[in-house]
Amino acid sequence: MASLALICLLAVTAAIAESAVAPGTKPNIILLFNDDQDITLGGTTPMAFTEKLMSTGATVDNFFVNTPVCCPSRTTMLTGGYPHNWHTTTGGCMHMDTDNDRFRKSIFGLNLQSLGYTTGQFGKLLNGMKEYCSEKDPLRLPGFDSYLTMCNYARYFENTFSSNGTLYKTGTKPEDYLTSVIGNHSLDFIEASLQAGRPFFAYISPHAPHVPATPAPWYADKFSDMKAPRTPNYNYSATDHHYVIRSQPILTSDEGDISDALFRDRWRSLLSVDDITKDVVSLLEKYDQADNTYILWTSDHGYQLGQFRLPSCKLQPYDHDLKVPFRIKGPGLKQGSHSFVASIVDVAPTIIELGGGTVPEEMDGHSFASLLMSDSSAPKDETRDRMTIEYWTLGNVIRNHHYIDMPNNTYIGIRLVNDTHNYLYVEYYQDVKEMKFTDKGFEFELFDVSKDPYQMKNLYGTPEADDQLVTELHEYLHKQVVCKGQKECKL
Ligand SMILES: *[C@@H]1O[C@H](CO)[C@@H](O)[C@H](O)[C@H]1NC(C)=O
Ligand SMILES: *[C@@H]1O[C@H](CO)[C@@H](O)[C@H](O)[C@H]1NC(C)=O
Ligand SMILES: *[C@@H]1O[C@H](CO)[C@@H](O)[C@H](O)[C@H]1NC(C)=O
Ligand SMILES: *[C@@H]1O[C@H](CO)[C@@H](O)[C@H](O)[C@H]1NC(C)=O
Ligand SMILES: *[C@@H]1O[C@H](CO)[C@@H](O)[C@H](O)[C@H]1NC(C)=O
Repeated sequence: MASLALICLLAVTAAIAESAVAPGTKPNIILLFNDDQDITLGGTTPMAFTEKLMSTGATVDNFFVNTPVCCPSRTTMLTGGYPHNWHTTTGGCMHMDTDNDRFRKSIFGLNLQSLGYTTGQFGKLLNGMKEYCSEKDPLRLPGFDSYLTMCNYARYFENTFSSNGTLYKTGTKPEDYLTSVIGNHSLDFIEASLQAGRPFFAYISPHAPHVPATPAPWYADKFSDMKAPRTPNYNYSATDHHYVIRSQPILTSDEGDISDALFRDRWRSLLSVDDITKDVVSLLEKYDQADNTYILWTSDHGYQLGQFRLPSCKLQPYDHDLKVPFRIKGPGLKQGSHSFVASIVDVAPTIIELGGGTVPEEMDGHSFASLLMSDSSAPKDETRDRMTIEYWTLGNVIRNHHYIDMPNNTYIGIRLVNDTHNYLYVEYYQDVKEMKFTDKGFEFELFDVSKDPYQMKNLYGTPEADDQLVTELHEYLHKQVVCKGQKECKL
């Protein structure tokens, strides 16, 4: 009990905590960061063990990603920085400037290392890992003592990884199944750390359920009668939405079948992620560390499977793409649902505080660790009722004859949730050249999500829109999308 209380205290009084901790009393931290796992289309259901485990912890009900696409969202996770502070107009990793020293010095694994953690990373980190994966003189990944980082994407066998800077390739045998390889390497790292008696941070980032969502051979016939959920906005023609949405042709029944098949494979692929959790928890129990370990579970963004007639992908600001699970289990937490708003940019700061550190000034996100703690003397944070959204188009992207992205699918927005308001507000720009967002955008959307949970009726410019609210959100948004660091980037 004494150590539990100490840990609660640590998280909220981070600055003085570091010197006060005896070696070995720091909590271990595990981040399970899935790829494309939604929450609104039932994406967490197949992970039954993890769901049950996490039901003994805390849930952030209103948790969103800042940008609904892989590399930018992962950049935000790794640095606690908004995408606008990593943006480049000259290519990059989906517009993120990640191949430079500023980025390499900002990976939050470094903060954990300086707090005395042994750190490990297993699975997908970013989409552009060339410099870490070259045959000759690969760069060492900063911030992680031990790692098995994916070098190639969108397949579940015959993968190439950088294992501590050495290329490691797998084949086509059942035991080469990607998620299991990631799981087994994670287990090896965790066991070695437990044996050494050093606190560890494990960043476990499976590729599941990203396409092609190939299931493990032993799970290939599960869920065979399941279909993608027919939400009210499934195959729905939203004529008052922005151009990409309102110009969608119908979802043909063949395209519906493709989405249904993908839905099944997504669920199947997640069964192997659930197996990782099971084995990790058994290992922690074996070393009597289950109660001294934080496990966090989230995803880089959600997904769509027929919503607004879009075949399958992400890239949109609606809840199916933006809202993701955030579950945490560990010492000192106040169990159950928490209604404040948080987003991916806040995760690295939160983990740093859970590890007894102070959030660096240059990070944009804000820790929400103290809000999760049961210790009632924890200082109350400022009101957390909104988060900002930024998306830079990938250009014209076609899937199953549908344009799922176009240059003018470039936007910034806000998700606001408090006791009286639950809104999504978005401003669209013509293309990425307007990235400075100096003017007001050319198309707008406003949804009252409490009345319209599937974001089907755009209130912007209608008599139902609250103009004062729109003005307030616009002004707040334009400050947030140019902010930098703890002080400027407000909650
Ligand atoms: C990676 O390096 C770490 C630290 O040097 C070591 O403990 C670990 O065993 C290495 N992992 C592999 C797969 O070689
Ligand atoms: C390790 O790999 C085996 C298959 O080779 C798999 O059954 C098991 O679930 C994997 N363990 C983890 C933790 O992923
Ligand atoms: C979508 O709706 C159209 C009619 O508007 C229908 O012809 C088509 O079969 C529907 N697609 C699916 C997958 O349900
Ligand atoms: C959006 O971009 C597409 C593709 O470039 C173009 O055809 C369309 O007219 C644009 N829509 C608006 C409203 O500007
Ligand atoms: C929710 O946010 C809106 C917009 O800022 C504000 O007008 C309203 O008072 C807030 N409600 C509560 C309960 O804080």
